[in-house]
Amino acid sequence: MSVLSGKKILLGITAGIAAYKSANLVRLFIKLGAEVKVIMTPASKDFITPLTLSTLSKNPVHSQFYDTENENELWNNHVELGLWADYFLIAPATANTLSKMSNGTCDNLVLATYLSAKCPVYFAPAMDLDMYKHPSTKENLEKLQHFGNIIIPATSGELASGLFGEGRMAEPEDIVSFIENDILSKLPLRGKKVLITAGPTYEAIDPVRFIGNHSSGKMGFEIAKTAANLGAEVFLISGPSQEQIKHSLIHRIDVVSADEMYKAAHQFFPEVQMAILAAAVADYKAKNVSNQKIKKKDATLSIELEPTKDILASLGANKENQFLVGFALETENEIENAKSKLQRKNLDMIVLNSLQDKGAGFATNTNKITIIDKDLNEKIFELKSKEAVSIDILNEIILKLDA
Ligand code: CTP
Repeated sequence: MSVLSGKKILLGITAGIAAYKSANLVRLFIKLGAEVKVIMTPASKDFITPLTLSTLSKNPVHSQFYDTENENELWNNHVELGLWADYFLIAPATANTLSKMSNGTCDNLVLATYLSAKCPVYFAPAMDLDMYKHPSTKENLEKLQHFGNIIIPATSGELASGLFGEGRMAEPEDIVSFIENDILSKLPLRGKKVLITAGPTYEAIDPVRFIGNHSSGKMGFEIAKTAANLGAEVFLISGPSQEQIKHSLIHRIDVVSADEMYKAAHQFFPEVQMAILAAAVADYKAKNVSNQKIKKKDATLSIELEPTKDILASLGANKENQFLVGFALETENEIENAKSKLQRKNLDMIVLNSLQDKGAGFATNTNKITIIDKDLNEKIFELKSKEAVSIDILNEIILKLDA
């Protein structure tokens, strides 16, 4: 999955011959699962039609502050467009537009949106070789980078003038991979490996029966997805769960019992920098698993149980530099119990869910958590979707890692 999947991309087109390549750019972004809106300078419409771009982007294309043809004269709000975008790409960026951007000139919709944008701004210069070489252009390019904008350098080749040299806009495929790589290189968990446990475990009683619990695995899967979206390579060890996950950075390891989860967790733990144990591991298993289906004979049946191994505690005991996070699901004396678990299991952080909170716990799509750190500081969070909760948890971990 591309880092651009689900992202909002604003494409600003200015009046250079390379504008004809913008159609392909829109197509590539859409193919990667991004949402695209296009804005144009008025002169760029001589090079490519708004109709082409709106058809490909499936969004209206604007080039003026308000649409005169539209009887409602809808105001094209540059501030809103600037806030909407996760990434703003100006391609092609002509010498004229670069000069205006570096000076804060604001005489068209693309420039006004540029000045309003809070997101990362990428620009792909395109012009003739002598214009690209000119000291004023060089100065503008430097100034724009100094502002924090990201240049996608022009390449060398045959130019529209027939001359050969530097100034050709990078090819659409190269622009897209440049942006993808740039985003990836800046992700806060880039280069980190994370172990996550999720879901219930099933402890066999006989060949057809088991002891299990209602855990859906949702929380652990959301954490895995968020960690991967933040750049981490994830080893997701999951008990039986209906949840599906597909991400190039996630390795899913399916297990059934607590023993299998224990083995898999210990296998990956030495190579990770972080472990988040969200699984609802069975605390007990049958002491003797019957080889045959247990027949109904007596009025009562006793099965002798013995404790499973505590995976979290054993990782805590073997911890080197890993940041270890556990969960605590409590029904009473929540904070006290969670703090004691954190210390007993040698954790760096514990995430507490109280079953007393509505919307928290197992089968729901929401959760309400309190995070307790090693120094026993507590941070209470609102009831949120499990996706939002996973972002809170990882943000807290990143803050601690950076501290
Ligand atoms: N856990 C684990 N292995 C076990 C049991 C629990 O790794 N055999 C982990 C869970 O993944 C969770 C944390 O320990 O991160 C807390 O689990 P919980 O069941 O709340 O705590 P327990 O230590 O089992 O204590 P109790 O059931 O008595 O509250």
